[in-house]
Amino acid sequence: MGEGISNRDRLLRACRRQPVDRPPVWLMRQAGRYLEAYRQLRARVSFLQLCQTPDLAVEVSLQPYRILGVDAVILFSDILIPVQAMGRVLLFTDDGPRITEPVRTMTQVEALAIPDPVEATPYVLETIRRLRTELGGDVPIIGFAGAPWTLATYLVEGGTSRHFAAVKSLAYAHPDLLHRLLEKLARTIALFLQAQIEAGADVVQLFDTWAGELSADAYEEFALPYQRQIIESLPRDRVPVILYVNGCAHILEKMARSGADVLSIDWRLDLAEARRRVGDRFALQGNVDPGVLLGARERVEQVVRDTLRKGGGVGHILNLGHGLLPQTPVENARALIEVARKWTLSVESGRDVESK
Ligand code: CP3
Repeated sequence: MGEGISNRDRLLRACRRQPVDRPPVWLMRQAGRYLEAYRQLRARVSFLQLCQTPDLAVEVSLQPYRILGVDAVILFSDILIPVQAMGRVLLFTDDGPRITEPVRTMTQVEALAIPDPVEATPYVLETIRRLRTELGGDVPIIGFAGAPWTLATYLVEGGTSRHFAAVKSLAYAHPDLLHRLLEKLARTIALFLQAQIEAGADVVQLFDTWAGELSADAYEEFALPYQRQIIESLPRDRVPVILYVNGCAHILEKMARSGADVLSIDWRLDLAEARRRVGDRFALQGNVDPGVLLGARERVEQVVRDTLRKGGGVGHILNLGHGLLPQTPVENARALIEVARKWTLSVESGRDVESK
């Protein structure tokens, strides 16, 4: 091991808490507007067109691999893509995503389709297949989907929300309606992730970004059962599952009951504390504050080293605690990657023996 380990093996081994030469690193939202090459493409093509044109989606997926040297390539798409196929009109505006007619009645919930991903989103699967051909199996490909609660927030609110008033009023006035919606979303996402795995995804990440907005009890009612339902439907012996929640400190132990192999931690929770709380049964991903990348380079390097130490080497995937911000200087993103790539672990002990 050590010398010849492929990027693919490094990530898969880290997900399973097996020893590696160094922790793998990739960044949520590693493709996007902070990259000049992305901005140039986006000047000509809309975001949805990028997602729906495999040639372009492949190119954008590969940009951070070529420019930063990350250890994994995440499919370029969006968590809201399957929502269109369910029968909603989706727009990406300067103020973020919009669903023109929010879903708030049982009739509207019943009218939603549970699409066959092969028919409804062939471009997503084609992008994965082409990435696989392009990368030749040495670099892991990460597939992903939004989790039911997070997708429901967009469907019910009609876009990004601050207080989640519409979806919470449904949760506490018409829970049966919301559960029916979450159930339909769970079935849709299970099929969608299964299809991504079939197409060649090596690892999948389930984004329940807004599940941290729920109380611990409400998480147990509206988020956890649907995460579990999806994860249980996947071939986890072959393909590890990463679960991400932004603002997860109050529900970490419950996330650990989702069936996920890797828990992706936001920056508010100390990574060493997260490790103490979940023990050795899980790999952890994270958790540098994306805001740190807006600061001074020396500080970026210091925070990354602290994060690597707290991650403890084995069963740690270095990442941010949420997506990379569009204002991020590329040099700072590169500095983060560089620190991780130079970090060496003693394969036998799993402890870091050197950092430079
Ligand atoms: O990580 C990657 O590089 C892969 C691609 C990816 C995107 N979105 C591309 C994107 C992934 C994994 C996502 C996930 C996503 N999308 C989440 C979950 C994680 C998170 O960040 O919380 C959520 C909540 C969304 C919904 C979404 N999409 C929002 C709220 C926005 C608007 C905010 C913004 O950054 O513009 C988007 C648009 C979006 N998704 C962009 C990109 C690169 C920007 C589109 C553009 O070029 O204008």
